[in-house]
Amino acid sequence: MENKTGKPEFWESVFIEKQEMWGFEPSNSAVLTKDFFVRESVKNILIPGIGYGRNAQIFKDNGITVTGIEISKTAIEIAGKHYGTDMTIYHGSVTAMPFDNCQYDGIFCYALIHLLDSDEREKLIGDCYNQLAENGYMVFTVISKEAHTYGKGKFISKDRYEIFDGVKMFFYDRESIHTEFDKAGLFEIIEINENYPFFLIKCRKGSNQ
Ligand SMILES: C[S@@+](CC[C@H](N)C(=O)[O-])C[C@H]1O[C@@H](n2cnc3c(N)ncnc32)[C@H](O)[C@@H]1O
Repeated sequence: MENKTGKPEFWESVFIEKQEMWGFEPSNSAVLTKDFFVRESVKNILIPGIGYGRNAQIFKDNGITVTGIEISKTAIEIAGKHYGTDMTIYHGSVTAMPFDNCQYDGIFCYALIHLLDSDEREKLIGDCYNQLAENGYMVFTVISKEAHTYGKGKFISKDRYEIFDGVKMFFYDRESIHTEFDKAGLFEIIEINENYPFFLIKCRKGSNQ
């Protein structure tokens, strides 16, 4: 099975080779989002591209039920080994969403959407929005054009580069964030540093959307 986000074999082979490559600490974005979700009394969330779960545990520790979607079977197995098997993780590509008909109070999508092409990004935002309960929140983190890798690799289309074999990345700025997320209830953009400069994008599904 091939897929335009990069071959599934790419992520599968990365997890087979590198296992828990990002360690067990949650990202800065996950910590911020946990505080935000706790403040807003979010009780159940979906994490598309959950990896091996390092960003999930902090939500579970705060009483939030987590469901994941992940393309790599090995990452799902690693998640089970370290964090238990009480968390549902659907095995498949986010491009095949929805995997269930649940409505979630929150969605946290870390460093995934920038791997997709423009049609897939639009579909992911729409699919997440559709699975959000009324007054729910979704938080996406995306790589910024400030990253030193911006403009490197093979040019694919505006702001999108194949940075290494099989991995294409779309680099965001505030303008492209507004273009893609305004219709999904965008209300805040925060600059945040992970291993690269990222944006943390907050959207709300309100009755006036
Ligand atoms: C760059 S990593 C994100 C970081 C990871 N969530 C973490 O714990 O830091 C991207 C994650 O999304 C998964 N992924 C990539 N493309 C996907 C797709 N189309 N559908 C579902 N998961 C995907 C990868 O296997 C990987 O776990």
